[in-house]
Amino acid sequence: MERLHITGGVPLRGTLAVQGSKNAVLPILAAAAAIPGRFALSNCPSIRDVDVTLALLKGLGVRWTRRGGCLELDSREAPGSAPDPALAGQLRASVLLLGALLARLGRAEIPLPGGCVLGARPLDLHLRALEELGVRVQCEAGRLFCRGRPRGGSVLLRYPSVGATENLMLAALGAAGPVRVLGAAREPEIRDLADFLTACGARLRGAGSSCVEISPAPLHGAVHRILPDRMEAATWLCAGAATGGCLTLTGLRPGHLEPVLALLEQAGCRVQRGANALRLTAGPLRSPGSVVTGPYPGFPTDAQAPMMAALLRAEGCTLFRETVFEGRYRHVPALRAMGAQIETAGSLARVRGVKALRGAAVRATDLRGAAAMVIAALAARGESAITEARHLDRGYGDFVRRLRCLGALVEAEGG
Ligand code: EPZ
Repeated sequence: MERLHITGGVPLRGTLAVQGSKNAVLPILAAAAAIPGRFALSNCPSIRDVDVTLALLKGLGVRWTRRGGCLELDSREAPGSAPDPALAGQLRASVLLLGALLARLGRAEIPLPGGCVLGARPLDLHLRALEELGVRVQCEAGRLFCRGRPRGGSVLLRYPSVGATENLMLAALGAAGPVRVLGAAREPEIRDLADFLTACGARLRGAGSSCVEISPAPLHGAVHRILPDRMEAATWLCAGAATGGCLTLTGLRPGHLEPVLALLEQAGCRVQRGANALRLTAGPLRSPGSVVTGPYPGFPTDAQAPMMAALLRAEGCTLFRETVFEGRYRHVPALRAMGAQIETAGSLARVRGVKALRGAAVRATDLRGAAAMVIAALAARGESAITEARHLDRGYGDFVRRLRCLGALVEAEGG
């Protein structure tokens, strides 16, 4: 969709089933290219990043069929080594094909990835670690040319990069010996990838800790259900809090959201936790003090913009500190246009609660920034228009219909 039209002021109420995780399914799709076999994935989200990744896999020769949230893939024929640059440039996760194709073929020609513009998004952690494992890496004309299967050994990530951890786990599937990734990311999506790889026969341990070890093993197809999307859940919860609503979310793992839930409770919301469900009842919002993002199990950077939008009318001042990405306040001008009082300086942003927000015409900048604009528009008095709303299609499936299920007054135009 190109443009959203929202009439704010309606408290969101109702029940939603959380979709499968974008950041879990993308590395698992890349893994399907690394392993010769047949795979059946369920709970796959209907989002554009999955569409683009499936188009990349098709271009490499991986066959697949899709029925709703179920995906069947067949990668028994050796894939090509050069993904389509026009597609790879649309999302960051295309870089995960590097590790997958090195494992499968011992070579890969990967265009530099695209995705949300969140400041510099280098690949030095991925590439340096692969070189330490003996992979030859050249970067020419916007493409990475990599040769050689990784040898066994230990690599240390100076920062727990999610993508670098995933790329190394995938490359290690074809390594000549055991690979240990120290300083690994601990996100739940890493554990979901590990669960999938283990189902494929991988000998893997330590996923979810800062030391992941993968040893060579014969690999085969598998059946796997994709992890629920904790970021989609966080987005709905922030929308419920911002509009003074009452939401029930089902089909999720509340334990993966604790930093978000704790902040919403500190801000005055009531949160009831079930085994696979959550119920949020919004109260009069007050500032929780500060929001500092960090690698898991810290407060997730992808929930920073939605949480900021939720706290625009919270009494008091909230200090945000974004420690993961350098440029993740691109949503702030749009929130200011709706009457928010936000000052930014580098990684810091101070939000001073206002009594009311007003509808405005704004332009979306990235996936989670666009979600923040929707949340603010839902809480604002009057009409808002959000252009370049296609950013939402990347990570939120069936977005408008699901918003309407919660009582939101929203119309989509264009595509
Ligand atoms: C993944 O991106 C997610 N994307 C992001 O979600 C998420 O925000 C991020 O992890 C952090 O949790 C997917 O899983 C598809 P990183 P990724 O490598 O892997 C720096 C969303 O909204 N860095 O952990 O790219 C980097 O610049 C998206 O769903 C290097 O310096 O994140 C950033 O500052 C947005 N060198 C920090 O590390 C490198 O080689 C974290 O990046 C790699 C990363």
